[in-house]
Amino acid sequence: MPEPLLACHDVAYTYRRGTPMAAEALRGVTLGVAAGELLGLIGPTGSGKSTLIQHFNGLLRPSRGRVVVAGQDLWAPRADRRAARRLVGLLFQFAESQLFEETVRRDVGYGPRALGLEADEVEARVDEALRQVGLDPARFGGRSPFALSGGEMRRVALAGVLAMRPQVLVLDEPTAGLDPRARAELLDHIRALHARGLTVVLVTHNMDEVALLARRVVVLHAGQVAADGAPRAVFAREDDLRAWGLGLPQAAALVRRLRSRGVRVGDALTFAEARRAILAAAREAPRGDR
Ligand SMILES: Nc1ncnc2c1ncn2[C@@H]1O[C@H](COP(=O)(O)OP(=O)(O)OP(=O)(O)O)[C@@H](O)[C@H]1O
Ligand SMILES: [Mg+2]
Repeated sequence: MPEPLLACHDVAYTYRRGTPMAAEALRGVTLGVAAGELLGLIGPTGSGKSTLIQHFNGLLRPSRGRVVVAGQDLWAPRADRRAARRLVGLLFQFAESQLFEETVRRDVGYGPRALGLEADEVEARVDEALRQVGLDPARFGGRSPFALSGGEMRRVALAGVLAMRPQVLVLDEPTAGLDPRARAELLDHIRALHARGLTVVLVTHNMDEVALLARRVVVLHAGQVAADGAPRAVFAREDDLRAWGLGLPQAAALVRRLRSRGVRVGDALTFAEARRAILAAAREAPRGDR
């Protein structure tokens, strides 16, 4: 197996370490993310998801264990931490609250300018990043980020991350608080970015998003990896999910409810799959059952 692009080895993290208020948020997390993956990271509130992803680009330093990005141990004495962390772009939860420049263009260009890039290069990156999130630079570039809709603001914040040209995109609940249309739009852009080769880690409370997008799902519980596998396998562990305080994708819950009522219907994770499974069950049911 090739070396993962990003890896945590036995990472532990304690907030306010050494004080009476110490809180152990991560308790030995080992996890590898391969180039090109789209990984869903789920877990109940307080399980350590946000703490873990802040280790991915060196914002937090582990109390124990190692974080390796592109073969570089982030906290080794002579590590080029800045180069390694540039590979990992992190979109914070409610990232639009961090927009601050007068125009969309200036905001998206903030990171590239801070890198000291030439003006032409900055502008090219801003155009590219805005297009990647479905915002026409000519239409949106000159506007104030504060005069946009919630979904647009969120996409401007994402463009700011993309303008740094990361190899790994880490998204902390990117659709939280968005209406269904803005949510669907953002998910489409995330899917397209992944299709273009970006490695994506998606933190979410929304199991439907995991079912739709992720090829692999990692469950954090009480600061540890409780499950790591294909969505189909993880969502089959109904009792464990309940114990972890997690639900099922809506489509999976639907077919299970049907089955508990005696309908012989196969498994499904998405509504498209549920529809197929239900139609197949209807076709196969003996006439008397209909
Ligand atoms: N700045 C902080 N200071 C002290 N404790 C913190 C801090 N941030 C998080 N914690 C604690 O660390 C644990 C993990 O929190 P974290 O925010 O990583 O969880 P999470 O899985 O992202 O939760 P959520 O789903 O609510 O976003 C929790 O017990 C939390 O109370
Ligand atoms: Mg969080």
